[in-house]
Amino acid sequence: MNDDLKALIRTIPDFPKPGIQFRDITTLLLDAGGFAQTIARMAAATLGPVDLIAGIEARGFIFAAALAAPLNAGVLLIRKDGKLPGATIAEDYALEYGEDRIVMHEDALVPGQRVLLVDDLIATGGTARAAVRLLRKAGAELRQAQFVIDLPELGGADALRAEKIQVDSLLS
Ligand code: PRP
Ligand code: HPA
Repeated sequence: MNDDLKALIRTIPDFPKPGIQFRDITTLLLDAGGFAQTIARMAAATLGPVDLIAGIEARGFIFAAALAAPLNAGVLLIRKDGKLPGATIAEDYALEYGEDRIVMHEDALVPGQRVLLVDDLIATGGTARAAVRLLRKAGAELRQAQFVIDLPELGGADALRAEKIQVDSLLS
């Protein structure tokens, strides 16, 4: 069954830079059954009830939004800096060259709300770990992060587990 979903992920060599094998989820999204199956499995893998699903810009939004109805939860947007209109809190994280910053609205959650973190893919885990710091700073009760794809050789999922987060991915 996992092989069915894997077959819907396209690998593009040398994107965005030479030597990178880019796992492209656009082909999964184009497949009605595959996308529905992806969301059904993520919903089934969710630990307990959650109040909010935090999605990371941009591809994480797609999966977080689709999970909102089956999980009866709201969607919290974690965005790149400069995109949210209200007062924000921020976390910086390292990229291969330089730094980036993610933000959320400072009043997006009530402390103690149960949050599930969602993104399309975890590689080094830099983005997801910054999201965990941000959500915890805001008072979220965060137990689990889910990804469609884990690239385990890059160590991101293990780094997240070291932060006491259960990490679940459909494909690796
Ligand atoms: C990709 C992916 C994750 C992140 C994973 O997003 O969607 O958010 O990188 O990498 P990491 O585990 O090494 O941090 P990207 O920054 O390319 O943004 P996009 O979704 O807007 O294209
Ligand atoms: N695909 C999509 N996003 C990514 C990848 C990838 O292979 N690596 C890091 N971010």
